[in-house]
Amino acid sequence: MITEEIRNKLIAAAMEAKKWAYAPYSNYQVGAALFTHSGKIYDGVNVENAAYPATICAERVAVFKAVSEGEREFEAIAVVTTNGGSPCGSCRQVMSEFGRDMLVLIVNEDGEVIRETSVRDLLPQAFGPLDLP
Ligand code: THU
Repeated sequence: MITEEIRNKLIAAAMEAKKWAYAPYSNYQVGAALFTHSGKIYDGVNVENAAYPATICAERVAVFKAVSEGEREFEAIAVVTTNGGSPCGSCRQVMSEFGRDMLVLIVNEDGEVIRETSVRDLLPQAFGPLDLP
């Protein structure tokens, strides 16, 4: 559970981050903001590449930034796009590694929450650490 204040901060941070998206090929800018168990916010944007498959999504940038700073537990993520698009499969998998109960706020460019869900609901029966022998 996150407070209304954190929820609003997270949405604002994702909207702010979206401005830094590097998306010259798709022109589909994405901003994400992740709230950690330790109380910090890490943001991320999609970073595209002329070699298209080398592109990385905003959600994974936010998660990788946080993990590389020592964070392991996440409470919530806000993802902002123009139209409130849903996180891709790779991002669902990466988020699920660090918390299937993570709240996911899918937000449009006006800051409206289009869908409020969880990683568990976005990726049921996910492959995870416990599946490895
Ligand atoms: N994208 C994200 O950043 N997150 C998603 O979950 C879906 C897709 C980006 C990748 C690419 O830069 C652009 O959106 C169009 O697919």
